[in-house]
Amino acid sequence: MSFSVRALHTADQGAARRLGREAFGMPDAARPDPEPPADRPWPRPGTHALGTFHGAQLAAKAVALDLGTWAAGHELRTCGVAGVTVAAEYRGQGLTHPLLVELLRAAADRGDVLATLFATAPGIYRRLGFELVSTVDEVVVPATAAAAVRPGGPVQLRRAEPADVPALRACYTAWARQRYGPLTRTGALADSDEALLEGSDAVTLATDADGEVLGYACWDRGGMVARTLTITELVGLTSDAYRALWRMAGALAMKVDQVVLHAPAGDVARHFLPSKHWQVASQEPYLLRVLDLPAALAARGGCGSGQVSFTVAGDPLGLVEGSYQVVVDGGALRCEQIAPREAGPVLTVNGLSLLFAGAARCADLRVLGHLSGGEAASDRALEDLLSSPPWQLRDTF
Ligand SMILES: CC(C)(COP(=O)(O)OP(=O)(O)OC[C@H]1O[C@@H](n2cnc3c(N)ncnc32)[C@H](O)[C@@H]1OP(=O)(O)O)[C@@H](O)C(=O)NCCC(=O)NCCS
Repeated sequence: MSFSVRALHTADQGAARRLGREAFGMPDAARPDPEPPADRPWPRPGTHALGTFHGAQLAAKAVALDLGTWAAGHELRTCGVAGVTVAAEYRGQGLTHPLLVELLRAAADRGDVLATLFATAPGIYRRLGFELVSTVDEVVVPATAAAAVRPGGPVQLRRAEPADVPALRACYTAWARQRYGPLTRTGALADSDEALLEGSDAVTLATDADGEVLGYACWDRGGMVARTLTITELVGLTSDAYRALWRMAGALAMKVDQVVLHAPAGDVARHFLPSKHWQVASQEPYLLRVLDLPAALAARGGCGSGQVSFTVAGDPLGLVEGSYQVVVDGGALRCEQIAPREAGPVLTVNGLSLLFAGAARCADLRVLGHLSGGEAASDRALEDLLSSPPWQLRDTF
């Protein structure tokens, strides 16, 4: 069979929606939503859809999202890969690989320095250089544990209104920008003000005496049958804000037994609970690969100081393969491609993904077969100059 890959346009919308419905059940197959208005652009701004065709038949599709990632105050242009689907009749024929290669190369051409995705089957994406670097978790906490959080200093709680949206966004950004991994929630795909408030039953703000927003909780009461209070986002800029919001959740959840919290891996919210309860009920695995190493490192900036030379080998996309020298001096980072090196450390693309996102140390990369050559000193330099603290994020896509 011969297949061709091309960008999807407005005329492909029906076929793409059918494929999505078959694979993900969305839009709801039982209650298909009305055909979108003909004048609404598709793919929507901020998305780039690619399809594999067998003749006129759409056999597979994937979508690239224009996203941004915070890395300690720096913004990294990120391609979010979503909606990877192969039609039932064409599965198992290797269609995903060439489709994703083209999608990712196009993202690199647009200036994206990273690609990330949530995968139900990480194995599919490993051969493209993606590695699991973080998770978004669903955590179950008994209402009694949340209610037993010790009170902090005075914080006022009140329900958010439309006029609070800018302060709500600013609070998220204040949390996100100093970390590694959270999405910037900016650009064409950012939620509208309405969607932000309507995404949950309620948003409760924690403010100081002057009304400044110090934290917030987005929550859904759920039914009595589910016996759950779901907090889809709990963000605090201060300890007092976390304490007040936890205690409110505990009081609210008393009738329903438990709080289900959507949390980034390693969420600081856990440290306020007096008991050991923090049962991870499910995890969404987040995968990453680097598309442009000098640009990604330059955008992220340097930690530590010193220099290291190394080689990245075997990139199926041909984007980051080669030898590099990284020099960090007084916070300024320079990463240059250099002439191929015979000796020194050699990373696989997957090893680079894990190192870049602080998901593995060199010792583990060696066990995994993602790092060879070099010696203890170059391992230390790679960790100091290329790695970062563990990644955290709150969004899924
Ligand atoms: C997931 C999906 C896209 C795979 O389609 P496919 O036609 O089987 O993919 P390919 O033939 O290109 O296979 C790609 C590789 O992934 C592997 N693979 C496919 N499905 C897999 C799964 N569920 N778990 C682990 N590996 C899987 C294949 O074995 C193959 O590996 P190989 O090249 O080493 O043999 C398809 O099953 C689908 O559309 N599922 C529903 C939508 C979905 O879940 N998408 C999100 C995926 S994260």
